[in-house]
Amino acid sequence: MNILITGGKGQLGTELVKCFERGSTELGTPDILKSENNVRAIDVDELDITDINAVREFFRENAFDCVINCAAFTNVDGCETSFDAAFKVNAIGARNLAMACRDCGGKLIHVSTDYVFSGDGSTPRSECDLPAPKSAYGSTKYLGEQYVREFCPKYFIVRTAWLYGYYGKNFVKTMINAGRKFGKLTVVNDQRGNPTNAADLAHHLIKLIDSEEYGVYHATGAGECSWYDFAAEIIRLAGVNAEVSPCTSAEYSAAHPEAADRPFYSALDNAMLRVTVGDEFRPWQEALACFMKNFRETEEFGNLGK
Ligand SMILES: NC(=O)c1ccc[n+]([C@@H]2O[C@H](COP(=O)([O-])OP(=O)(O)OC[C@H]3O[C@@H](n4cnc5c(N)ncnc54)[C@H](OP(=O)(O)O)[C@@H]3O)[C@@H](O)[C@H]2O)c1
Repeated sequence: MNILITGGKGQLGTELVKCFERGSTELGTPDILKSENNVRAIDVDELDITDINAVREFFRENAFDCVINCAAFTNVDGCETSFDAAFKVNAIGARNLAMACRDCGGKLIHVSTDYVFSGDGSTPRSECDLPAPKSAYGSTKYLGEQYVREFCPKYFIVRTAWLYGYYGKNFVKTMINAGRKFGKLTVVNDQRGNPTNAADLAHHLIKLIDSEEYGVYHATGAGECSWYDFAAEIIRLAGVNAEVSPCTSAEYSAAHPEAADRPFYSALDNAMLRVTVGDEFRPWQEALACFMKNFRETEEFGNLGK
C-alpha cells in the first residue's frame, strides 16, 4: 500500500515511521506490516497542510491508499493566544487532507483529542457522547473532525489523550526534567484522563490501515488517573529524587493565568475499538513502565534536568 504520514517529524509521526522501519510495533505485528508498503513521512517543511493549493498539487503528483494525519497545532495554551494559526492547522489542514483523500479514493486516519469533550462527566466518554470543547485547541480539533467526516467518505477519526513517547516533547519528559532541576513538583490533582503511550497508539493506527471499519474511535491507554497520579508514577519509575505535591486546577490557574481551561474529566472509553478491530491498549501503568525501561537507556534521559 502507498501510505502517507503527515506530521512525520512529531512525537506520534516519528513513532509510526519507526514501526514501519522495524516491521513491528511494541505490541506485535499487525498484518499490514507483514506486506510490502510504500511509506512516506512528511512534515511542514515539505508540505504545509494548511495550503490548499500545495496539498492539491502534492496529491496530483502522488496517490495514496491511506493517509495518517498526525500534523497538528498541539500547544494547548498556545492555541488560545494563536487562535488563527491553530484554526488553520487543526481545522483547515484536516479539511484539505480530507478533500485530497476523497479525490484520490484514499482512506484518512485523522488523529484527534479527548479535549473535544467538556469534561463535565464522571464516567468515561464513548464515541456516542457529544463533544462540547472548552478550549481553542479542543474547538479547532473538533471542527477538523467535522470537516474530515464531511469531505472524506473513508475516514477514521481517532481521539487519543495525554500522549507521550520517545520522540519530541511531552509531559513525561517535562516531569523528569523539572523534578531533577527543582527537586519538587506541584501537579493538578482534579483533572482526570488516560495516559497513552504513543507506541500503543501507533499499533492501533497501523491496524486500522487495512480495515474498512470506518468511523470515530477512542484510542487511549487502559485505566484513568489524575495528572498528579501520572506525575508521581513518572518520578517513581524514573528514579528521580523529587517531592510531588497535589494542587487544584483553581490553584494552578491562579499561578498560570495564561493557561487554557482543560476538561476536569476527559477519560475515554475505547468502545469502537472493542467492537471492531480490538482494543489491545495496556493498562497505563504497564505501558509507562515499559516506556521508562527503554527511555532510561537513552542519552536524552541522562541529559534531562541538566
Ligand atoms: N500530545 C498529546 O498529548 C496529544 C493528546 C491528544 C491528542 N493528540 C493529537 O495527536 C496527534 C499527534 O500529536 P503529537 O504529540 O505527535 O504532536 P507533535 O509532536 O506536536 O507533532 C505535530 C507535527 O505536526 C507538524 N505541523 C504543524 N503544523 C503543520 C502544518 N501546517 N503542516 C504540516 N505539518 C505541521 C509539527 O511541526 P512543527 O513542530 O514544526 O510545528 C509537528 O511535527 C495530533 O493530532 C494531536 O492533536 C496529542
